[in-house]
Amino acid sequence: MRLDFFIANATELSRKESKRAIGQGRVQLEGECCRQPATKVRSTANVSLDGQALSLAGERYLMLNKPPGVISATADSQQPTVLDLLPPEERHGLHIVGRLDKDTTGLLLLTTDGQWSHRITAPRSNCGKTYRATLAEPLSDRDIQELEAGVMLKDEPEPTLPATVRTVGEMTIELTLSEGRYHQVKRMLAAVGNRVISLHRIRIGDIALDGSLSPGEYRELTADEVASVQ
Ligand code: URA
Repeated sequence: MRLDFFIANATELSRKESKRAIGQGRVQLEGECCRQPATKVRSTANVSLDGQALSLAGERYLMLNKPPGVISATADSQQPTVLDLLPPEERHGLHIVGRLDKDTTGLLLLTTDGQWSHRITAPRSNCGKTYRATLAEPLSDRDIQELEAGVMLKDEPEPTLPATVRTVGEMTIELTLSEGRYHQVKRMLAAVGNRVISLHRIRIGDIALDGSLSPGEYRELTADEVASVQ
């Protein structure tokens, strides 16, 4: 589609205002200023206006650096939720893509796009989730092999799917999972006789937690990040 059409669809600007904004050099396409309203762009192109990433169809995609002590819910009468971290005008229609425990920190995705979030959370999705875990005890080579091959979790009939473990320090690992069972990381470590002291999600598929976000801060995903979820 034409760039001016993209802008008019993704913002509240009219087609005429979109053309003017493009002419004024306020629009970037794939990181470069573009002044030609007729330029052809894909619907998933990386387009920004005044430095703000845009996406079509009004769908919204955010990443949040979840702090400890807030729950992964959109509303709760007792406890603070991750949505309480956003200004009220940002909250409308958002849902959480893959919950984190109250004490777990790090990458949480929020979107209005149900099909997109399903591609991340569906049981057969190939979208790896990477957690950095600090443990109570060092892991043996045998523990690592078991975690990678699949372990039996308490009260579950099937072993966990193959995972990868990267050793980061004596008591710190990065564990990448391709499924998302209840308290999965903590239960996997319990299955090999260990205990998770702290847990931080650093990546979902190709989307890495932005290191410039302090706990509790959020930002829009870039068009490339949105398009990376197939
Ligand atoms: N696994 C857990 O045990 N907790 C989380 O919050 C996420 C994955």
